[in-house]
Amino acid sequence: MAFATRHFVRAASSDAATAAAKKLLIKHVTIIGGGLMGAGIAQVAAASGHTVVLVDQSDEILKKSTKGIEESLKRVTKKKFADKPEAGAEFIKNTLKNLTTSTDAASVVHSTDLVIEAIVENLEVKNKLFKTLDKFAPEHTIFASNTSSLQITEMANATTRQDRFGGLHFFNPVPMMKLVEVIKTPMTSQKTFESLVDFSKAVGKSPVSCKDTPGFIVNRLLVPYMMEAVRLFERGDASKEDIDVAMKLGAGYPMGPFELLDYVGLDTSKYIIDGWHSLEPNNPLFAPSPLLNKLVEEKKLGKKTGEGFYKYK
Ligand code: NAI
Repeated sequence: MAFATRHFVRAASSDAATAAAKKLLIKHVTIIGGGLMGAGIAQVAAASGHTVVLVDQSDEILKKSTKGIEESLKRVTKKKFADKPEAGAEFIKNTLKNLTTSTDAASVVHSTDLVIEAIVENLEVKNKLFKTLDKFAPEHTIFASNTSSLQITEMANATTRQDRFGGLHFFNPVPMMKLVEVIKTPMTSQKTFESLVDFSKAVGKSPVSCKDTPGFIVNRLLVPYMMEAVRLFERGDASKEDIDVAMKLGAGYPMGPFELLDYVGLDTSKYIIDGWHSLEPNNPLFAPSPLLNKLVEEKKLGKKTGEGFYKYK
């Protein structure tokens, strides 16, 4: 038994060593979607020395993304190089040198090591994109999605590279938030997984790993928590103001659940909970909320529309 255990440990560590020896060193990254998340991911990847192509649907959108990245870099630099403005200017110059943009994903993926998708949260649209890129990207290229709520496995199945497909779930705002959830489907190879973990570390993040389960780690805990707060309020058990104060002062959270819902966007939260509810209709944690549905119907979507659970005007 002792021998068998030792043998197993040796075999496992030599498997890990083989996978590590073969893993892909990611240098060239293509990011599809230059919105809130894609621009942030492009920024941290370029700032850490990767060659980055940022892709979106129009030059106008890409101009806005690049301007946002420049402004964000200035903010980061002000803090990071407070005493060395010249080094800060050099950092911004080098980061921007690593970044180019394109409106044609198929024509830029030919030499990329990693494609990160951060487009609209719609499975059909994402699958269509991955299916197309699968034809143009080289054999070795890894595909990853930044989705918050969709199944990575379904996207991988739209391609012929299921073993070179995983999830890379960054958090908003990307330059500030240290976490990346690296998602492994049953088909993701160890080499792909380790390459994604290494990439996450290379862009300065702390990766954690999770299987392809609804919400991964953070949203699986956070979304039902926020929904439970809405239910507590809906039943009239406590006011939303008191629930927010309670979670800030009693649990040490920086924001209360209603403040957080307004920050995330009520439409986004509804979209996530509705998707999970359709996957598991009997799971009470995923039950929809009439109040949340009503606010979304009234276009009270949170901070971005000036009103959600609270008013911001
Ligand atoms: P966004 O709406 O800010 O940006 C999406 C961008 O994708 C837009 O600029 C749009 O023009 C572009 N786009 C849409 N279809 C495209 C296509 N076929 N080809 C090229 N570009 C296309 O969205 P956001 O917030 O950046 O979210 C992107 C992804 O990241 C979604 O899957 C979302 O679930 C996920 N995510 C969002 C977080 C958030 O806090 N907003 C956090 C973590 C993940």
